[in-house]
Amino acid sequence: RKRVVSGVQPTGSIHLGNYLGAIKNWVALQDTYETLFFIVDLHAITLPYDPQELRKATRDTAALYLACGVDISKASVFVQSHVRAHVDLMWLLSSSTPIGWLQKMTQFKEKSRKEGGENASVSLLTYPVLMAADILLYKSDFVPVGEDQKQHLELARDLAQRVNNLYGGRKWKKLGGRGGSIFKIPEPLIPQVGARVMSLTDGRSKMSKSAPSDQSRINLLDSKDLIADKIKRCKTDSFVGLEYDNAERPECNNLLSVYQIVSGKTKEEVMEECKDMSWGTFKPLLTDAVVEHLSPIQVRYQEITAESAYLDKVLTEGADKATEIAEVTIRNLKQAMGFFYI
Ligand code: TYM
Repeated sequence: RKRVVSGVQPTGSIHLGNYLGAIKNWVALQDTYETLFFIVDLHAITLPYDPQELRKATRDTAALYLACGVDISKASVFVQSHVRAHVDLMWLLSSSTPIGWLQKMTQFKEKSRKEGGENASVSLLTYPVLMAADILLYKSDFVPVGEDQKQHLELARDLAQRVNNLYGGRKWKKLGGRGGSIFKIPEPLIPQVGARVMSLTDGRSKMSKSAPSDQSRINLLDSKDLIADKIKRCKTDSFVGLEYDNAERPECNNLLSVYQIVSGKTKEEVMEECKDMSWGTFKPLLTDAVVEHLSPIQVRYQEITAESAYLDKVLTEGADKATEIAEVTIRNLKQAMGFFYI
């Protein structure tokens, strides 16, 4: 069976962008593919963070995966740092990664600028190598992510290719390996709608965990009242009627797309339903659809977090399963790279 992996950072709270861009799509894939979903705690320390919060957010994020419908009878769920091979592979891959590839990453440029350039941590620069390790470790075929991870995915593909060329094939065979390629080249899976959910306060910037104002995002665990309030106060425009794909109306396009996904309707249905609506009519409709979609997730979340032993068991089993697969990859690569072993 083809394999799918993906993960979310346990920083801040998970918002509608993370859910619509990634987690919701994971759930749809677990019936067809072998799936591994991790909580990328090692990625979460690349920016200044609070250790107390990291510990809590890691468990909470795992609970949210399950609450969103990740089913442990089908998928493996684990914490990245529990599988040591992620860091092992990252180091091995680092030696084949040109610094220039990392320096030109958009996210690195943006985030390091915010950290004051030279003061940004080395791990902020090498972050995409760790992400490549997360993916290549499991010989993944597909990686469901939002639009903002596309460039990192491309780097993972380039890196896989580079390592295959440097160490795979006949060279590997000479060292006693099976030859052929060491890594599979992964494909990103980016959804048609929801790949880039925008901020509620500015339709031209993406919804993000790090935006200072909580008004800019809807978190999966926000109460009904808070969601109503955020939508009531969100940025709109003064055009008449509602429409998709008007470059001058990014907020309108964004809110219609969100409504489309959470209501389960098609684009055509939404266009027909909303074309003559005013914001005053649409906002309560959107609020109800979002609340209706999120409330079962919130109920399940409460149930899962109430029973802490269950989550520990899920994460232990997930890590064991992942370790088994990961160790084989590490052994192969170390052999191909000429490490001595007994
Ligand atoms: P992270 O934690 O920033 O985001 C998790 C997922 O949510 C998607 N996403 C969005 N999608 C739509 N609209 C938005 N506004 C939005 N904001 C975030 C992201 O694209 C992502 O899919 N480096 C990654 C995590 C990672 C990973 C991996 C992913 C680490 N290793 C291996 C896949 C495979 C990150 O920081 O995502």
